[in-house]
Amino acid sequence: MKLFKPLSICLLLALNILSHAQVSLVGAGKKVDPFHYEVVKNGQFRKASVSSAHPLASLVGAAIMEQGGNAFDAGIATQLALAVVYPGAGNIGGGGFMLARKSNGELIGLDYREAAPSKASRDMYLDKNGTVLSALSQFGDLASGIPGTIAGLFATLPYAKLPFKILIQPAIDLAENGFVISEKQVNDFNEQKDIFIKNNNHPIAFVKEGKWHLGDTLFQKELANTLKRIQKDGVKGFYEGETANMIVAEMQKGNGIISLEDLKNYTAKLRKPLEFDYRGHHIISFSPPSSGGIIINQMLKMIEKYPVGTYGFQTSKTVQLMIEVERRAYADRAEHMGDPDFWKVPVKTLTSDKYLTERMKDFVAEKAGSSTDVKAGTIHESEETTHISILDDLGNMVSITTTLNGGYGCKTMVGGAGFLLNNEMDDFSVKPGVPNMYGAIGGEANAIEPGKRMLSSMTPTLILKNKKPYVVIGTPGGTTIPTSVFQGIVNIIDFNMSASDAINKPKFHHQWLPDIVMIEKGFDANTKKHLQTMGYKLSDRGSIGRTEAIRILSDGKRETAADIRGDDSVAGF
Ligand code: GLY
Repeated sequence: MKLFKPLSICLLLALNILSHAQVSLVGAGKKVDPFHYEVVKNGQFRKASVSSAHPLASLVGAAIMEQGGNAFDAGIATQLALAVVYPGAGNIGGGGFMLARKSNGELIGLDYREAAPSKASRDMYLDKNGTVLSALSQFGDLASGIPGTIAGLFATLPYAKLPFKILIQPAIDLAENGFVISEKQVNDFNEQKDIFIKNNNHPIAFVKEGKWHLGDTLFQKELANTLKRIQKDGVKGFYEGETANMIVAEMQKGNGIISLEDLKNYTAKLRKPLEFDYRGHHIISFSPPSSGGIIINQMLKMIEKYPVGTYGFQTSKTVQLMIEVERRAYADRAEHMGDPDFWKVPVKTLTSDKYLTERMKDFVAEKAGSSTDVKAGTIHESEETTHISILDDLGNMVSITTTLNGGYGCKTMVGGAGFLLNNEMDDFSVKPGVPNMYGAIGGEANAIEPGKRMLSSMTPTLILKNKKPYVVIGTPGGTTIPTSVFQGIVNIIDFNMSASDAINKPKFHHQWLPDIVMIEKGFDANTKKHLQTMGYKLSDRGSIGRTEAIRILSDGKRETAADIRGDDSVAGF
């Protein structure tokens, strides 16, 4: 075996890396200009596509691919950039899932979901009378699971081409030298000011004297220093040493329980992706501890027997059928799904034809079903999460959903380290078998146990057509995530919509309990009326999800679309 590459190859490699290192991507007038950028909702690209929740993060991903990186490089760099420019959900203090299909057909499911600390216990959010103390699972240090994101990025690195040092540099630049915040962020920071002050006993970058205004620049020096430690020391720069000490010091101040051992022992895990066919397309999605893949598998297979395309888009016939399959899939979520390392999730049965045919036996067209007699329940989840869809010139497909859970997680920043912690512990069933403050019921499968990963709804998904890459899709939205992905897929496959239409059409959501259909603004008024006459209770609500999708057209162009519901933006070439 040769131990050394020939000198010429080594030299070329070194020069290549050096040239990447020398070109700074971020700065006024550079490829990624933090002071002049715009939201771009659609693009048709030939070689590289990124769609994410923030224009600067998408630009970083595309620039990294222009520098010679692949979709995995872009995935790492975009996530790190989002942790800086989209701190409500982008993160290094949270967790996520990466689903990918390499150009050679290999599938990768990477689980870097947060885990319960070793001192966590089943009743940790109950008072002595057994009453749920939801403030503790939602705010402050005790709400935080052990963060997984940095472990996930380093577990992605073997599939990437560029050195980590280069991939993290744009995030460092954005944190250190600042970027102009968008109008949405101005409003967000102003609205959250009191809650930030309440949950932090040290100054944090998002709180300033007076109010934020349009045109203001956000600087995050402490975060830049944390990112530099990760750049220098790798995964240990987060899970050991100074950053880990800061996390544990924060826990001691704020009544949290994450220990140095918890951090040191955290690892990302490979999960076998879930695969199934739908109307001649091959769908690949995430398996437990996400419920998302199973739910979309169940819903798509339950509607496959019906000619939805001929029923028409959002006619009452189509919508009623989709509501009823949503009801059934979400009922199964609560009863049967949890971390597969702690609970046997009957994936095969739940997705089998026999079981799903049985589930639809009591479906009656033109008549609302009822959730009252069903004995399982759902779990409350917050909706602030974020998704990135990426495709490179080789055809590597990368779909990443990542989260702090609630907007700005537990609202507490690690003192001196400049990043927010998650409040993912609230995704466990805080009190199995008993309705929580939202009237929802959690299952035994998702009870708190040390080291266990809380059930998620995140549904990063890929679609192949004729065995070739076709669609990359995913969204934030808590329990609404699987329904958004479900409806996006149906819009593309059954209604032949463009990526942009498929994600931007108004949506509806039913999650079994509460037994209501949530409806987004702009939904067809006649369909709403007809559903009410069938016996459905409808409830108008704000946005459902912020989906990012890429669809490959027959001429090879990649239709790249960002959701119109936020600052979401595409970039590519
Ligand atoms: N925290 C949102 C989810 O994991 O589904």
